[in-house]
This record gives sequence, structure tokens and C-alpha cells, in this order.
Amino acid sequence: MLITGGSQGIGAAIVQHARKSGHDVVFTGRNDAHIQETAAKTGAHGIKADVSSDADNQRVVDEALKKMGGIDVLINNAAFGYNAEIGSLDVNAMRTLFATNVFGAVDLTNRVVPHMTSKADGDIVNIASTSGMKGAKGATVYAGSKWAMRGITQCWQADLRPHGIRVICICPSEVQTNWMGKTGRNNPNKLYAEDIAATIMAGLEMPRRVLWTELAVFREQSVEGRLGAWVPGCLGAWVPGCLGALGAGSIEREQRVIR
Ligand SMILES: NC(=O)c1ccc[n+]([C@@H]2O[C@H](COP(=O)([O-])OP(=O)(O)OC[C@H]3O[C@@H](n4cnc5c(N)ncnc54)[C@H](OP(=O)(O)O)[C@@H]3O)[C@@H](O)[C@H]2O)c1
Repeated sequence: MLITGGSQGIGAAIVQHARKSGHDVVFTGRNDAHIQETAAKTGAHGIKADVSSDADNQRVVDEALKKMGGIDVLINNAAFGYNAEIGSLDVNAMRTLFATNVFGAVDLTNRVVPHMTSKADGDIVNIASTSGMKGAKGATVYAGSKWAMRGITQCWQADLRPHGIRVICICPSEVQTNWMGKTGRNNPNKLYAEDIAATIMAGLEMPRRVLWTELAVFREQSVEGRLGAWVPGCLGAWVPGCLGALGAGSIEREQRVIR
């Protein structure tokens, strides 16, 4: 299994779950310390590589083939975010983001697919987002990249289904990683990286005749969240604040969160 951006967050959780399920795993990342930490924890092989670099992608494919003898599963996970409203958007920042979130995934997959089609077997998982399912304020760049990945997934399904290769798109809602520098979150109404890893492994472990084309993953609300949802009318405006003050947790609706 080859996983991009496996050095931390959702990618690192996928590395961990895949290793527990007995897969050989090669993963990428850019931060040396994080790569070493995940490799030491899981026994997976980490490669320092930037997915926006064509040369790095070829090196990753060569090293993965050498290490594992083939690539049965590719997980396009590496990505980052950028928020800005139209009118004050830095288009160069958008180009840089698309170079990783979209073109990087396309370039790497383009290099991996011939090795899968030659065996008429393989799985490709694209990590998109619920941000790629509904537009939101300030989300042109990031959401645009995730809408792109959803559309690209459908095209790859058409290209690769005749070759016995499954292409799956996973759209998580907010997940508590270090995404965009947010650390130390412990919100009972948000997903954890392990939840997404477990979802992906479940999809991969289905019989090969089963294809999940696309899956949105939301957090089932905690008791505190459900209590907030029940409060009718104007009470709803102040009771969540009281619950928050009591440390009972956020009741914000995940659908409203840009991630
Ligand atoms: N967190 C959320 O709420 C959320 C929700 C929906 C979807 N997602 C999606 O889930 C995926 C993982 O997000 P996350 O929350 O786990 O993010 P994260 O904690 O910031 O981790 C991102 C990972 O991607 C790697 N990465 C970023 N740019 C890279 C590049 N150019 N080349 C190689 N690796 C690169 C990072 O490596 P280094 O740190 O080593 O550079 C890191 O391992 C992304 O596709 C994201 O869009 C996240």
C-alpha cells in the first residue's frame, strides 16, 4: 500500500491501521521527525517526498515497487488548506495548493496505474472532503480542489473499472488532526483520524465485487450535541452557550464546518 502524507494526521492513522491488517506500507511526507516517528511506530517505510514534484513522485513509485514488489493500493491523502474570499484571493496560493491537492495526486496516480493495469488489479482511494460537496464562505481554493478530486474520481472509475481497479472517494467531515496548525483539539462532536482510517480499511476489505464509489463520513453527535439539537426556538440560542460554559462540548453542526 502506498499512502501520500502518511507522516501525520489521517494518513498516519491509515498507515497504522493498514500495518495492523498485515499490509506492507510505504508512505510519504515532508517533515523528517514525523516521518521517522510514524515509521518507528508502525514498521512502515517512510519516504521524504513532495507530491507536487514530478521527480519525487517517480522516485516514490520506484522505491515503493522495490520495497513491496508492487503497489496494490494507492491512497491519495496529502493535501493542505487555504481560505480566502473571492476579491482578496491570492491566485498563486491557489496554484500552489492545486499543485499538491490535485496535480500531485494525478501525477502520482498516472505513474502507479500502469503497474495496476498490468496485473488487472488494484485499489485507489482519493481523500476529498465534505467541503467538496457544498460550497462555503472563503472556501474557493480548498473546496475547489476537493470538488476536483471528486470529479476526477468518477473519471478514473470510468477509465479503470474495465481493468478491475476500484477507485473510491472518501469525503470526511471535520477530523481532529493538526490540520492548518490546529492542535490539541478534543471536541466530542468531531471525528478522529482513526475513524477515517477504519472507514477506508472497511471499504478495501469488502469483497472485490463491491465498490464504494463515494462516501461522506460525518460524526454521529454526542449526547451533549443531541441535547442541543432538541432545544427548540429561542432556547436554542442560549442553552448551547450554557452547555459550553459547563464544558459539555460544542453543538455546532458539522455540515457548517469548512474542512
Ligand atoms: N482534518 C480534517 O478535518 C479533514 C476533513 C476532510 C478532509 N480532510 C483531508 O484529509 C487529508 C489529510 O488531512 P489531515 O487532517 O490528516 O492533514 P494534516 O494533519 O495536516 O496532515 C497532512 C499530511 O499531508 C502531508 N502533506 C501535505 N502536503 C504535502 C506534500 N506537498 N507532499 C507530501 N506530503 C504532504 C503532510 O506531511 P508533512 O507534515 O510531513 O509535510 C501530512 O502528513 C487531506 O486530504 C485533507 O484535505 C481533512
